[in-house]
Amino acid sequence: MPGLYRQVIMEQVLFQHNRPGRAVTFTEYCGEGGFDALKKALKELSPNDVQQLVIDANLRGRGGAGFPTGKKWSFVPRDLPGPRWLICNCDEMEPGTYKDRVLLEANPWSLVEGIILACYAIGVSHAFIFIRRGYETAAGNVRRAIAEAKGAGLIGDNILGSGFSCDIDLHVSAGRYICGEETALMNALEGKRANPRSKPPFPAVKGLWGGPTVVNNVETLANIPYIIANGPAWFKGLAKIPEAAGTKLFCISGHVQNTVCMELPLGMPLGDIIDGPCGGMLPGKRFKACIPGGASTPFFTEEHRGVPMDFDTVAKAGSRLGTGGIIVFDEETCLVGATLNLVKFYARESCGWCTPCREGLPFVVDVLARLEAGKGETEDIDILREHVKYLNLAFCALAPGAMGPVEGLLRLFEEEIREHIIKRRCPFSRGNN
Ligand code: NAI
Repeated sequence: MPGLYRQVIMEQVLFQHNRPGRAVTFTEYCGEGGFDALKKALKELSPNDVQQLVIDANLRGRGGAGFPTGKKWSFVPRDLPGPRWLICNCDEMEPGTYKDRVLLEANPWSLVEGIILACYAIGVSHAFIFIRRGYETAAGNVRRAIAEAKGAGLIGDNILGSGFSCDIDLHVSAGRYICGEETALMNALEGKRANPRSKPPFPAVKGLWGGPTVVNNVETLANIPYIIANGPAWFKGLAKIPEAAGTKLFCISGHVQNTVCMELPLGMPLGDIIDGPCGGMLPGKRFKACIPGGASTPFFTEEHRGVPMDFDTVAKAGSRLGTGGIIVFDEETCLVGATLNLVKFYARESCGWCTPCREGLPFVVDVLARLEAGKGETEDIDILREHVKYLNLAFCALAPGAMGPVEGLLRLFEEEIREHIIKRRCPFSRGNN
């Protein structure tokens, strides 16, 4: 079904080389234009040209924050002595998000090519791919791709006789969510405990081993070859609205027919995604709400169906596009319970370094658990509100992320919380109704 929709609906960029049930091979990828962008860049374009094309294409980071990629590259000081680094963040662990895994299980080559292009643009001679511990198939594909690309002279010394040299190493994470936070990730790579560092200085200025470091997501880097090959105007034209550019890998889960990862144009309205490629709600179910961009983003409801799914438009509507992990809930879902479930994850994954996060998250879990069980009091609503404010002051993005769904719950579903308090039970739990 999703495969069928893909053919009918729109241009596939990152998924264009996909083969059913296996990864595309090096020969197949090259036969379909793979590594042509790298060859073109090394022959015809300066590093600045490559950076400018990425800036002009308006490529924004696909790891969740949507920061403009070319702008991030431009922060790297070019005149400092000593090495600079590129890290590909594949420590994908945001609940509801699995796009980087799907991409790398189908095609590790666009990432490898994108990394070498990015390194060329920034003047980096050593890149790391930091991959989630459980992503064994993806890691295997990437490991093989690096070896094959090295064998073909596309990684290593004097790539394709251009004088540019660059190596890529794969590093498997120790397996905690916080390792995906870019500064904690750098500590992990340096062999230290994975606590986040304070920002600023941002990694682009002072990162791995104190050197300027660009941290980019898998999907972001995998887009680079296509931008270099086809140009910024083509890339911008892929999106449904002029403010956006490119496609996005959306990870769908929850109460819809097709729960898969799909490549769709940025700017497609939420309702069109749910009714179209998602195949609509499960039989007999009605849409109640969704998490639009991975577990750290506030809920959207029926009133948000028309919102174009792009970074700025989703933010204007009160949530975040985040990672593009859309979790759909039907009308029988208790959103107090759903929020509790999400916050439990963050409480468990807190690194414990800063007090608001270490102490605040378990406290919010307790309040939500009480409310869901029908044992809450009206003042718990204000307590939750205070904690949303308080936890937004935590040291890194983990605790503020956890407060995303809580903030949405309070803003959009206060009545549902009150119903739990008044009825002294969860109105959605079977057997109690
Ligand atoms: P952020 O907004 O602090 O930064 C985004 C990127 O831009 C970073 O690489 C940062 O170094 C860079 N940046 C921002 N301002 C800069 C400046 N003035 N100078 C130089 N560089 C600058 O967001 P952060 O903490 O990196 O990421 C949070 C996001 O990550 C959340 O929105 C969440 O959606 C997402 N996330 C994704 C996960 C996944 O599994 N893909 C897991 C957890 C969170």
